[in-house]
This record gives sequence, structure tokens and C-alpha cells, in this order.
Amino acid sequence: VSCPVRQCGRTLAWSERALSCPRGHAFDRGRSGYVNLLLPQDRRSSTPGDPREVVVARRRSLERGLGGALRDALLGRLGTLGLPADVAMLDVGCGEGYFLRAIADAWPDSDRVGVDLSTFAIDHAAARDRAARWIVANADRRLPFETGTFALVLSITGPKQASELRRLLADGGHLLVAVPAADDLAELRTAVLGDARSLDRSGRIVELFGEHFRVAERSTARARLHLDREALRDAFAASYRAARSRAKERLWALPPLEVTVAHDLFDLVPR
Ligand SMILES: C[S@@+](CC[C@H](N)C(=O)[O-])C[C@H]1O[C@@H](n2cnc3c(N)ncnc32)[C@H](O)[C@@H]1O
Ligand SMILES: [Zn+2]
Repeated sequence: VSCPVRQCGRTLAWSERALSCPRGHAFDRGRSGYVNLLLPQDRRSSTPGDPREVVVARRRSLERGLGGALRDALLGRLGTLGLPADVAMLDVGCGEGYFLRAIADAWPDSDRVGVDLSTFAIDHAAARDRAARWIVANADRRLPFETGTFALVLSITGPKQASELRRLLADGGHLLVAVPAADDLAELRTAVLGDARSLDRSGRIVELFGEHFRVAERSTARARLHLDREALRDAFAASYRAARSRAKERLWALPPLEVTVAHDLFDLVPR
């Protein structure tokens, strides 16, 4: 991890309480162990980090199993890559750390770093996994790592700044990107919004990443789950922030629903 101060970039040393560079720049660690490496000018983002209520709704959704199919697909794909036991990996937009924790079980000796713009999410992630390193940083800007640091980079419905993710990835590395598939939560969106159109974000992946990456493999993780009203509310809140007030009313009146949860998973390799 390198010092985020402009024109510095020296390696940060981790201690119990803080991170510091040889030039004397220092960053305190939170109680849970995370570190905030945002500089004031990097706090602005086109996509601000998720607020507390969204992080909480997503965590409850993951605990109910909504991430299970994607987790299995991700672990399955990683299993084919021949990763060394001590592989260095970065999860950008890691949220509360669900997917890095799942990977930790299969690769306990891996060097895991999670980055998110939401301090609330990172604090949660850090409290639940002390073996990984958790950093608040803005992936729309330059992230505080040297070029080619990671053999594996993940963006699980996370930020998609292709050039920066390419910079961080070692040659021969893999970037795994997951996005909601066209039918993700389609029944819920139909019930709440009246239709379930225009969710296919897969085409955009090639658009966004095509200059720096080619698609080595693409798959879809899909499950059907029976969700009660609370689970539906959380699933909606975790995925669709701009709920109109009419939508909100409908959401609160929903009966339990059988819902599709589906994600497209792309394995991208540098061109
Ligand atoms: C849809 S959530 C996915 C979280 C996690 N990957 C998961 O699947 O549970 C997107 C995450 O990206 C984070 N995020 C959004 N913009 C970001 C940015 N510019 N830099 C870092 N993280 C960002 C949000 O705070 C949020 O936690
Ligand atoms: Zn420094």
C-alpha cells in the first residue's frame, strides 16, 4: 500500500494504530482496524459510497443467501485459474466484505485487500475479518497501490474504472467483474416499478473494459428464492437506490414473492 499524498507514493508501514510513510505522512486506523486513505480532494465522487441503510440492507440480503449463487460461481471460476496459495488480490467496492470472506475460506494464505468508499461498509468488513486489509479509498481516482500489485482484482457490482484496474493488475492476472443480469430481481421490479426493462448491463462491460481487457470467460449465476416482505424491501434497497415514493408504497404492500437473483460474471484478462 502506498502513501496517497501527491508526489509521495512511498510505501506505508502498518502498525497497530496507524499507517505511516518514511516522509512522515500518517493515517490513523479505526477501532476495527481499517484505514481511511482518502485525501480531502478524493472524497468527491461521481458515485458516492453507499450510505449506512443501504449497506445494512445489503448485509441482511447476503445473510439471507442472495449472494450464494454468485459466490459459488466466483469460487468455481477462481478454482480454475491455478492461483498460488499466497495470491495477492484486491476487491474494489468490497462493501461489507462478503465475497472476500468467502474467498478467505478457500485461500486462507492469500493476501487480501478490500477497498470501498463507504467507511461504514469498510468498518463492518474489518470487524469481521482481521486477516485482510481494509481501506477506504475512491476507485474513481488513483488507488493507493503500485502498478501491477495484484494477480487478481474483483469488482462485484462495484466500480468499473478500467484503466485504473488494469494498472493495478499484474501481467497475466485476472479481473473478475460481476453485474446484475437482465432478469435480476425481475419479479420484484415488475411488482414495484411496473416493468422490468433495461437492466442488461453486460453489453456495457465490453464497452467499458474492451480497450484494456478481453473476455476470457463469461457465465451467469442464477437462483430463485422465496422472499418475504422484509427480504423484498432489503433486496430492493440494496440494489435500486432511487426508489420513487409510489414505488415505496407498493414495496411496503407486497406479498411474499418468488424472485430471480442473477448476475453475469466476466473473467477479463489484459490485452
Ligand atoms: C452494489 S455495492 C457491492 C458491494 C459488494 N461488492 C457486494 O457485492 O456485497 C457497490 C459498492 O461499491 C462502493 N463504491 C461505489 N463507488 C465507489 C468508488 N468510487 N470507490 C470505491 N468504492 C465505491 C459502494 O460504497 C458499495 O459498497
Ligand atoms: Zn507520504
